[in-house]
Amino acid sequence: FLFWKFCLVVQSAVKQEKQVSSKSTPTDLVTETDHQVEELIISTLREKYPTHRFIGEESSAAGVKCELTDDPTWIIDPIDGTCNFVHSFPMVAVSIGFAVRKELELGVIYHCFDGTLYTARKGHGAFCNGVRLQVSKEKDVSKALILTEIGAKRDPATLDIFLGNMKKLLSAPTHGVRIIGSSTLALCHIASGAAEAYYQYGLHCWDIAAAAVIIREAGGHVMDTTGGPLDLMSRRVVAAGTREIADCVVKQLQPINYGRDDTDPDDLA
Ligand code: IPD
Ligand code: CA
Ligand code: CA
Ligand code: CA
Repeated sequence: FLFWKFCLVVQSAVKQEKQVSSKSTPTDLVTETDHQVEELIISTLREKYPTHRFIGEESSAAGVKCELTDDPTWIIDPIDGTCNFVHSFPMVAVSIGFAVRKELELGVIYHCFDGTLYTARKGHGAFCNGVRLQVSKEKDVSKALILTEIGAKRDPATLDIFLGNMKKLLSAPTHGVRIIGSSTLALCHIASGAAEAYYQYGLHCWDIAAAAVIIREAGGHVMDTTGGPLDLMSRRVVAAGTREIADCVVKQLQPINYGRDDTDPDDLA
């Protein structure tokens, strides 16, 4: 019930004129709705769970330390796909994950345009509007549809690696590569079996936290781009329906270094 309250704010704001500004780069957009929804989510959850901690995209941008401890922690992306939201391109989500002792326990992602609600709780399965989710069982990468997203870095050297990775995956061969502009919804498509694999350099812990629970509970794999265990703060991920497809994707990738979400800005100074 609480979740609908947050999503309604996004849904009604889609139709209105937006106040858009940029953060780290001219393409890193934020609107007043991003702030409004994050504040609403955190204040609502804090009232219910006063001892819990919070990691949110816009709070982190405002200087709140992005740190995952053993404490129960909500990991929030108030609007995933802000650029889509600005353009009314219909791939926008609210994503809330929950971790205890650094283990992801809960994930809820709401697709604000079509009203699809993805939910999962560790050990209890993953669901889309109440219907159980199951990842693709495809093991042959030549029959795979691959999803990725473009990170914030757009300098020529980074774009060369990005395009090189895409080229390798397209010519693996695979059925194709898609970019939809929302990491969380792309990951939900892995959970539902609509695509076989996803990879990205440059996403954040709030892009992956909820989706990782949903994919794992749908029977899929979520890991580091090296093939090792997922590090939520590492800003890189590979997710796939089967281990075989994940391994093939991992083999094709040249890394792009984005640093870590939990780097203290003071350490960089
Ligand atoms: C972004 C989107 C985008 C992805 C970026 C994310 P935001 O999230 O998911 O598709 O490429 O890495 O940061 O900023 O719209 O919440
Ligand atoms: Ca953003
Ligand atoms: Ca996001
Ligand atoms: Ca966001």
